[in-house]
Amino acid sequence: MSGISGKAKIAGVIGWPIRHSLSPRLHGYWLDQYNIDGSFIPLPVEPSDLGTIIPALPRMGFHGVNVTLPHKETVMAHLDHIHETARRIGAVNTIIFDQDGQSTGHNTDGFGFTENILQTLIHWDFPQGPVVVLGAGGASRAICVALLDAGVPEIRLLNRTHERARVLASEINNVCGRGDSGGTITVVDWDRRSECLGDVAMVVNTTTLGMTGKPPLEIDISGLPEQACVTDIVYAPLKTALLVQAEQCGCAIVDGLGMLLHQARPGFEAWFGPTPQVTEDLRRHVLSGAG
Ligand code: ATR
Repeated sequence: MSGISGKAKIAGVIGWPIRHSLSPRLHGYWLDQYNIDGSFIPLPVEPSDLGTIIPALPRMGFHGVNVTLPHKETVMAHLDHIHETARRIGAVNTIIFDQDGQSTGHNTDGFGFTENILQTLIHWDFPQGPVVVLGAGGASRAICVALLDAGVPEIRLLNRTHERARVLASEINNVCGRGDSGGTITVVDWDRRSECLGDVAMVVNTTTLGMTGKPPLEIDISGLPEQACVTDIVYAPLKTALLVQAEQCGCAIVDGLGMLLHQARPGFEAWFGPTPQVTEDLRRHVLSGAG
């Protein structure tokens, strides 16, 4: 569609800074694909302005926004409702405004993670065995909740800062572990990352290690079973050194770009209507705007 009308549906993404966000490119692709009279706008919002801007958005006609750093946790205080998954993760990445301007915060990062695995490994069986998760930041929180919800029996959580892993494990175990599925998070020392892999079904890197410009992730995964899967949330480079090593071990690999693309789907559907798909062409389009 060339240009938008006065009736255009509007959504956007709030962050500080926002210049590097790939979300406008991603949603823009789908808006074009479905020929929608709509727009998705990058919105630079300083932390101190969050409380003023969030309630103003529906009053200006916004259907919703994605939320990125540094607002994912602090935004929760400014919303009318928080979806149960977002509450368990402790962060919001998608806000939907209803017709009365009431806001609900969702977190679709975990959904993006599992959908990305299942798009590549269609019959992946999450309950089949323990998962090693490296890192205990915000992405790790969402992924741990998603893994437990998917029926993973045990998560071994390793983080350079042990205390951060301990706190994450204790909080998530309280809100979702040991439930019907019986899954639970145990903390393992960062120094044992190459040694705790013998019976593991999946390894997930949620740290920034291995990203262009960051230090490498030093790990030897030769002890992993061959039928294990290795995935990385880093997508620059797309095939990280961890994924190269996993391929050499004969393991299945899933790169990190898909998580970013899949997490955007529920928001797009809520704001604009169609259920969008993640395709090779979309991956190319978004990657060509990265960096
Ligand atoms: P996010 O919230 O987006 O996941 P983050 O909070 O910056 O990002 O977390 C980044 C992760 O990478 C953390 O697990 C961090 O470990 P610490 O909690 O010990 O900081 C990890 N990380 C970053 N640099 C690292 C390094 N040089 N060695 C080991 N882990 C590192």
